[in-house]
Amino acid sequence: MEKSIFELMEEYDYENIFFCQEKTLGLKAIIAIHNTTLGPAAGGCRMWPYETEADAIKDALRLARGMTYKNAAAGLPYGGGKCVIIGDPKRDKNEGLLRLLGRFINRLDGLFLTGVDVGTTIQDMDIMRLESPHVVTVSEAMGGPGDSGFATAFGVFQGIRACLKEVYGSPLPQGRAVAVQGVGAVGRELVKQLVETGAIVSIADVDQEKAKQVAAQYNVEVVEPENIHRLDVDVYSPCALGSVLNDQTIPELHCKIVCGCANNQLAEERHGDLLTQQGILYAPDYIVNAGGVVYNVESLSPGGFNRQHALEGVAHIYRTMGNVIALAKEQNIPTYRAADTLVEQRIALVRKVKSLVV
Ligand code: NAI
Repeated sequence: MEKSIFELMEEYDYENIFFCQEKTLGLKAIIAIHNTTLGPAAGGCRMWPYETEADAIKDALRLARGMTYKNAAAGLPYGGGKCVIIGDPKRDKNEGLLRLLGRFINRLDGLFLTGVDVGTTIQDMDIMRLESPHVVTVSEAMGGPGDSGFATAFGVFQGIRACLKEVYGSPLPQGRAVAVQGVGAVGRELVKQLVETGAIVSIADVDQEKAKQVAAQYNVEVVEPENIHRLDVDVYSPCALGSVLNDQTIPELHCKIVCGCANNQLAEERHGDLLTQQGILYAPDYIVNAGGVVYNVESLSPGGFNRQHALEGVAHIYRTMGNVIALAKEQNIPTYRAADTLVEQRIALVRKVKSLVV
């Protein structure tokens, strides 16, 4: 039998779910708040044609919890939340729907801060911002950070450096072979940063045109999408889909390091154990793909958005990944567990501090 909503919420101790509805504009949205111990819940706004309401609720909950971990690991003073809009972004999106959602978000009075995610754009956020200052990732013209794909890539690049330092004793990408799977908004920027620092890069994308274009621009090799993870390289960087580390792919890997931006790379947690057993250093996805969120929330700082300061924040991912590796070694646990441990320790500490002086 399907779990009830409260059973789902109890499973990982969620704080709230807000349902937003308006019939004439076709708005059906769900805002899930996982944990606000560290601060207001921050997370993107996804639009997706979910088959059932139950699918949408589960996705909102899963993504909100993911944001708690990502924000906490990045050292941000924010908790985790997520908004999902039920609908087809190509067909169902309109100004009224976006503005109304903005008004609902405003009603939460800063409990939830949001931005772009799958199915929404910076232009959508600009519209929602007209109704609420708690819509964060707006365009540069509106005083926001604009597109943050390159900031996510910069964070992944820092993660790769930290892993190289651990495996080879030097963080320098020069002369290291890197296979990048997916050259979209983030992958393409990562290729640029790797090539500029002298790495030898191979790429693959199911969109052949995109792959060709990036290959021509940066003079890198293109391989078939089904072979990219099999290459004999120093680093395999998944920058496309989730669940790419699974029973089928892991035995086929010939890399020393896995470090990429794709969310939920481990098909199941046990695949993180499998990578460790195979002697592969895995950079937990939410540790190294936090660059975008770190960059975006800079616009909430008292002085407003400062690009240089934001990028300095993203560069901290090098140190965070180093801390994850150190804890994994010290406790003899896989890196994905070490990352969770760091996050849970931080949340427990802040919870304790808040209980000491109320
Ligand atoms: P995107 O949609 O711009 O790029 C993804 C690329 O992967 C596309 O070019 C697509 O054709 C390609 N692709 C899809 N399936 C493939 C396959 N089987 N083999 C090879 N290529 C394939 O997406 P974006 O923004 O670059 O994000 C990539 C991943 O990183 C996603 O999982 C996203 O959730 C995650 N992520 C993105 C952030 C951002 O700032 N954009 C932040 C954190 C995570």
